[in-house]
Amino acid sequence: MWKPPERIQHPQLPARWPSAREAMASRLFSPLRIGSIELEERTWVPAMVPWRATDDGFVTEEILSWYERFARGRPGALVVEATGIRDIPSGPLLRIGHDRFLPGLRDLVTTVRRASGGHTRLLIQIIDFLSVRRRPDPAKFFDRYLEIDFRHRLAAGNPGSDAEVRAYLRELPDDELERILSEREVESLRFGYRERVTDTHLEHIRELPKVLPDLFADAARRARDAGFDGVELHYAHAYTMASFLSALNTRTDGYGGVLGDRLRLPLEVFFRVRERMGPDFPVGCRFLADDCIEGGNTVEDAAAIGVELARAGMDFLSLSRGGKFEDAKQPKVGWAVYPYTGPSGYECMPTAISDEFGPFGRNVPPVARIRRAVRDAGFQTPVIVAGGISTFEQAEEILASGQADAVAAARQSLADPDWFRKIRLGRGEEIRRCVYTNYCEGLDQKHKQVTCQLWDREALAEPGVRLSSDGKRRLEAPDWDESG
Ligand SMILES: Cc1cc2nc3c(=O)[nH]c(=O)nc-3n(C[C@H](O)[C@H](O)[C@H](O)COP(=O)(O)O)c2cc1C
Ligand code: SF4
Repeated sequence: MWKPPERIQHPQLPARWPSAREAMASRLFSPLRIGSIELEERTWVPAMVPWRATDDGFVTEEILSWYERFARGRPGALVVEATGIRDIPSGPLLRIGHDRFLPGLRDLVTTVRRASGGHTRLLIQIIDFLSVRRRPDPAKFFDRYLEIDFRHRLAAGNPGSDAEVRAYLRELPDDELERILSEREVESLRFGYRERVTDTHLEHIRELPKVLPDLFADAARRARDAGFDGVELHYAHAYTMASFLSALNTRTDGYGGVLGDRLRLPLEVFFRVRERMGPDFPVGCRFLADDCIEGGNTVEDAAAIGVELARAGMDFLSLSRGGKFEDAKQPKVGWAVYPYTGPSGYECMPTAISDEFGPFGRNVPPVARIRRAVRDAGFQTPVIVAGGISTFEQAEEILASGQADAVAAARQSLADPDWFRKIRLGRGEEIRRCVYTNYCEGLDQKHKQVTCQLWDREALAEPGVRLSSDGKRRLEAPDWDESG
């Protein structure tokens, strides 16, 4: 993963943990209304893909125990991983694009209700993404994938057959290739072919504004049928909806260009979902406080987006940052480009080796700026912040100073799914604290079952411990005895 050139090693934040009484009186453990539901506390576990679904996108026993483990820590809200809204093969990513996924999703809801004693509100993040192919072997790229046109033909001296053009190009040095191939062709060769929302010469991309509102609305309906408390529309990171919102979206069909047009599809999706679900089913979204890439949205854009999403009637706004393909590292041959390997990926999941600012709460000032714009426009929409939050004081300060309305922690919750509960019970000293090395994110990148380095080798032989497919790691954090 990319690291800031300063390479400053940041130790964990010092922490003073509150007594149970102080915790009870804190803002962190006060309720928060999200549309028609109330969270018992302002603690939030955001979406995290654990790579535990079947290859067909169904809920597995491993998925159930992953969410059960988080639910036992009783966060105010738990958001189920990015779940695909289409009925197409997507590898072991959870899916909600057909009613056949409903029984598994119902089991998931039941499991979380039971494990949290009904205290945790359960949301599901619903996502659309475009096609990304693996980086090809160069020989295969020239022999099969490259579509030969007049430029290639001319450069090769107009030989009799495409095969001769391909053979000619295959032997060229990099600088020659850069002169002959288009920028996109060079990218496909070096990174793997990747679709963009601006590829309007492709019918299925041109038609996205026609198909996505119903796909999202159908997925939201299924989420409600399965018993979820609400949905989070995934408008963040490297995926379709964030790409529509981004300043890099130059579509000229009324769905790109100026901000008002970039917002059009995200709003149309939301309105269709709302129309289908009625006012009582909570619908919010996750979007970016900053794209963190050249030419992408800045915090000023994000503030304007936040105001419009609030005006449209979103029930919550959850803010992430970065996580883009545009600045991602070149993958190895046979691997797909991964949007968390460049500087914007760093901003999304910052590690302990950082710049002056460090990994803790990097998203807080921009989120505060966005929340202020939303409030100044007259909307009370709850705003959720994530990114390097791992102590009670940090969370409480964010809430007390009005920088956000709920505090999300992904990696700290993975390191210790009971951490919010431990704070609430005045037992903060027992928290297993995330060290922000991104071992977990490295597993995610390889599409391996996600675990945490702080516990995945612990007590492997204990009865009932579920192991990863390589048999080397436990899949869930060890139990914590609340009565102990
Ligand atoms: C393994 C892993 C998987 C993630 N999957 C998702 C996801 O499905 N959707 C999403 O919006 N963010 C995802 N994220 C990002 C987190 O929700 C969160 O925004 C990010 O890790 C920063 O918060 P943290 O510092 O508390 O970890 C993932 C993060 C990790 C570590
Ligand atoms: S592996 Fe564990 S300690 Fe390391 S960053 Fe992930 S959650 Fe934190």
